[in-house]
Amino acid sequence: MTIPLEQLAHFDPLTGTVAGAAVTKRRLSDMRGFFADEAAYETALAKDDTVLYTLASVEPAQGEGQLYYGLGMIMPGHIGAEYFMTKGHYHAWRPAAEVYIGLSGEGLMLFEHETSGETRLLPFTANSVIYVPGFTAHRTLNTGDVPLSYLGIYPAAAGHDYGAIAERNFKKVVVAVDGQPTLMEREAFLEKLEIR
Ligand SMILES: [Fe+2]
Repeated sequence: MTIPLEQLAHFDPLTGTVAGAAVTKRRLSDMRGFFADEAAYETALAKDDTVLYTLASVEPAQGEGQLYYGLGMIMPGHIGAEYFMTKGHYHAWRPAAEVYIGLSGEGLMLFEHETSGETRLLPFTANSVIYVPGFTAHRTLNTGDVPLSYLGIYPAAAGHDYGAIAERNFKKVVVAVDGQPTLMEREAFLEKLEIR
């Protein structure tokens, strides 16, 4: 008996793949405007249009009550002081929540509530589960030396709103200060860049 991908899938956190599932690759050139340090971004892009992260998506069935899930893998690396990270998104259907499960590597998840503006930064490592509430932008960052892999499970109806992030970005950035991930106001970081 053949079991369809819809019901049973096998994934590999080390390659970021789910057998039989399509993989989306986000390259540096797809990330224009998402990193605060534009000069560092252009320098890195001129050198190599590297893959920052991949997403293998499984969408078994559409409609009310259905779930989608994806296996994300973020490579280790920096753009200036910023870590390789995802674009980040709201769900198009704002109330939709999501569950993230850390599989391997070491990173962080940055959250920003759309109306209160409240920011939260949580550690995200193997064997941790993070519940992403609705109305909250979420971005994943790799702060380690190896790929960060995780599963994200969300309502099929959630949708992804990357546009809101592309337009106004997160108010805070996570940057390496003396080798340690540090949360900073975007504006304060940009001022620091100007006087360097
Ligand atoms: Fe999401």
